[in-house]
Amino acid sequence: MQRIALLGAGNIGAALIGGILKSGVADSGHLVATDVNPERAGEVAGRFGIQVTVGGNREAVASAGVVILAVKPYTLPAVLEEIRGALREDQILISVAAAVPIALIEKLLGRRIPIFRAMPNIPVVVDEGATAVTSNGAGTPEQRRLVESILGAVGYVTFVEEEMMHAVTALSGSGPAYIYMVIEALIEGGLKMGLSRTIATRLTEQTVLGAAKLVRETGLHPAILKDQVITPGGVTIAAIHELEKHGLRSMLISAIETATAKSRFLTQSLLEKSAIGT
Ligand SMILES: NC(=O)c1ccc[n+]([C@@H]2O[C@H](COP(=O)([O-])OP(=O)(O)OC[C@H]3O[C@@H](n4cnc5c(N)ncnc54)[C@H](OP(=O)(O)O)[C@@H]3O)[C@@H](O)[C@H]2O)c1
Repeated sequence: MQRIALLGAGNIGAALIGGILKSGVADSGHLVATDVNPERAGEVAGRFGIQVTVGGNREAVASAGVVILAVKPYTLPAVLEEIRGALREDQILISVAAAVPIALIEKLLGRRIPIFRAMPNIPVVVDEGATAVTSNGAGTPEQRRLVESILGAVGYVTFVEEEMMHAVTALSGSGPAYIYMVIEALIEGGLKMGLSRTIATRLTEQTVLGAAKLVRETGLHPAILKDQVITPGGVTIAAIHELEKHGLRSMLISAIETATAKSRFLTQSLLEKSAIGT
């Protein structure tokens, strides 16, 4: 069993800790975490029964086979600077920092070790995350499988080319925010029509969950599933006409396009600031 050091026990970090322990990828004796916030460290240590140190990134890294960086992107350069002397070639580095490309991580480390860059999303907190991973190709197939099982402990995982990480960020990274807007609006539609908040909320959350589950479990194209709900001259088609008039689908496609461009811009700015260029 590999020893894992997770730096940054925040939202994503704590979810990964929970998933790793639950899936058995590592037990509490093989997983240590760090944070800068003593309260947070104490809370996460108490919740999961693992050692969480305040600071101590170098020490945590020195004793691990896998290092997970779950700090904010703007904190990443300082953390890499701090741990680079302790990192070895036989270790795997997994970064979940949004927009930070592998080339920049390699530059900050000053050498090439197996690096996996992952883009999870917030439902990792309930083990229903959607994570895309890319790598610098320095890892072995076995290391790749280990990364897959670590991230797979909190949901679905897929590997993509690094250039596709912008689209991933736009679609699944930010995606929960779009779906929350849809959920909020559906609830308010229910409220407007006189349903209680509790009933409108429960009906909406179950509808979104159930619809997603049907897409996954049937493998059917969503247009076919949509068609199954429509009765000629009925209620659903009247609502769909309204949604089409306001451009719901076009709006969402444009949102992904705009968010992809924004992600590419942010990465480009980071590279230009560090004078790597692309
Ligand atoms: N949240 C998302 O939906 C999402 C999705 C995809 C990717 N990500 C990426 O996941 C990473 C973590 O995001 P998050 O939402 O989990 O952030 P977060 O809740 O702020 O977690 C980061 C944690 O790291 C701690 N920290 C700061 N400096 C540190 C250091 N030098 N050493 C160790 N720990 C340190 C922070 O403490 P303080 O708060 O006291 O600074 C905080 O507890 C980010 O890079 C983000 O881009 C997040």
